[in-house]
Amino acid sequence: MAIKRRKISVIGSGFTGATTALMVAQKELGDVVLLDIPNMEGPTKGKALDMLESTPVQGVDSTITGTSSYEDTKDSDVVVITAGIARKPGMSRDDLVATNAKIMKSVTKEVVKYSPNSYIIVLTNPADAMTYTVYKESGFPKNRVIGQSGVLDTARFRTFVAQELNVSVEDVTGFVLGGHGDDMVPLIRYSAAGGVPLTKLIAPERIEEIVERTRKGGGEIVGLLGNGSAYYAPAASLTQMVEAILKDKKRIIPTIAYLEGEYGQHDLYLGVPTILGGDGIEKVIELDLTEEEKAQLDKSVQSVRNVMAALPAE
Ligand code: LMR
Repeated sequence: MAIKRRKISVIGSGFTGATTALMVAQKELGDVVLLDIPNMEGPTKGKALDMLESTPVQGVDSTITGTSSYEDTKDSDVVVITAGIARKPGMSRDDLVATNAKIMKSVTKEVVKYSPNSYIIVLTNPADAMTYTVYKESGFPKNRVIGQSGVLDTARFRTFVAQELNVSVEDVTGFVLGGHGDDMVPLIRYSAAGGVPLTKLIAPERIEEIVERTRKGGGEIVGLLGNGSAYYAPAASLTQMVEAILKDKKRIIPTIAYLEGEYGQHDLYLGVPTILGGDGIEKVIELDLTEEEKAQLDKSVQSVRNVMAALPAE
């Protein structure tokens, strides 16, 4: 039987969706379909064609197709959901819950109809609650519905640490635990540069400032952009997750995963370290937390549960 290229559909052709489509194609992870609603069909097709015309220069053979028809997403291996509204200055991610939950439900119905065997990655905010919404609506097993936030939050943390130490970002490792909100928990004990614990390299007050900047990292970009939220770093994070699944890389990365007892939580999607590979979330890794870290995580969990309580009824 002929070997076929993988298929990745990106739902939502705004800045994040379009950038994700481009990055996924540039890595030749498969053929990409970029989808948006019918009144965005022209711009979506235009963006996709423009990207396709860059492939000879890039030397990649992934195709990129723009569409407003879910039929074109049929049999996708991975579906990335970026659809929905983004926050503007003065808003919290949680202000988006009602509008985006409705959008998640209608998108998920179509994804399930056309790509019943796909892995779904959810970016839309508030990310923990939206991933939960997609999971419930899809009826997919928990390993096939994965939320994005920890790769992004950790990338921000790693950027700030590398800047502080004037070292390669490649050598900085870290872990951000908890919900994708201002209470997220960068775990300093598990962070290092070149294997050297951060606490040996950076003064505690500076570490605290970096943690605070990481927590507010999305808001910092929203404030600077003035009319939307970050897209380059979110798209890079989504691309890493698509690659981890399609190449079965078994990366240990933080994702928003469904918890059934891990970290003492039940029936909750939350940012935790996971092994992400060819079967989606293959394992949730449980870390031993100190009393202080547990208290910080509890606060973050409470914030996520507050948003969950605001989800519209069925
Ligand atoms: C981010 O962290 O950049 C995204 O969640 C977008 C936002 O609203 O902050």
